[in-house]
Amino acid sequence: MQATAGNRPDLRAEMNGSIGRYEDKRFDWEAFPASAGFPDLDRCQMRYIGAGGSDKVDDPTTLEPGHFTLSIVQQPPGKYAASHSHECVESFLALGGILTVGWAWGDEVLEARLGPKDMCLNAIGRPHGFRNDGDTPVYSSIMVGSKAPLPPRYVCHPRDTEAAMARAFGAAPGKTHKLQTDSEDHRHREFARHIVRYRDRKPDWHAAGFAKLAYIGEGGAPAGSYRMDLVHLPRSAGVALYERQVEDVYFVLEGVITVGWEEQGRVHEERLGPKDLVFNPPGRAHYFRNDGVTDAQFMLAVGTPKPEDVIFKAA
Ligand SMILES: [Fe+2]
Repeated sequence: MQATAGNRPDLRAEMNGSIGRYEDKRFDWEAFPASAGFPDLDRCQMRYIGAGGSDKVDDPTTLEPGHFTLSIVQQPPGKYAASHSHECVESFLALGGILTVGWAWGDEVLEARLGPKDMCLNAIGRPHGFRNDGDTPVYSSIMVGSKAPLPPRYVCHPRDTEAAMARAFGAAPGKTHKLQTDSEDHRHREFARHIVRYRDRKPDWHAAGFAKLAYIGEGGAPAGSYRMDLVHLPRSAGVALYERQVEDVYFVLEGVITVGWEEQGRVHEERLGPKDLVFNPPGRAHYFRNDGVTDAQFMLAVGTPKPEDVIFKAA
């Protein structure tokens, strides 16, 4: 298809204003005011959609959120995020390094370690924290299921708790437990239901030529305010124009994808590489295709917990 930009409306400008490119981003080391003065809590944030858990809501380089925010957080070795909860769901998708996530029930904590492309969806109100026990930085894509989340509610912060206990997310000595996915304990079962491991996902091959790996929503962790699948898009595969009543977002993990927007018969296309993102707004006709040299993978996040209602067709 010939990629041409329309003049009315200016699709090219509108589309480029809805793309976050990795090379244009910077990590903000002052994104989390509650961590100031506590070097063990050091971490930085790269914002793509909204402010996430930061109060930097007026950052002009981030996109306006719909039903969720998205950022990348980098946590150096040895650092941790103190246990806290939210009024909405929040997902951690590990991108690099090994991320230790803890869920707290009083002074008992379950911990799970997440490798690349593994995910934990934090349930509403469940106190949780994360820590880097490895020797390389951890990079995670963090999504918060609200346009404007409230500040985190800390339940075990080093300003009011002894340092070793805060680092253990509030666990008393001997009360940190490794997640057992085959346990009958309701806490292990609940935590396990909210963790998705890439290696365990079975591909759901679609007639349109791509595979979906369910992460949040049907077949994945129980959805809160958004759904998410990992899309594996083979070289040369692509889908025809489609649209939704809510936003959908493509966040590229591997390879290169071509994204197209259509308006009144005119089309504009952009290519996205690893860690690039496009926010496709509600009602915008759009499509994706792989013109690259390798298969591509991207996270498809949709601003609703409802099951998929788009009938994808091969382009
Ligand atoms: Fe959180």
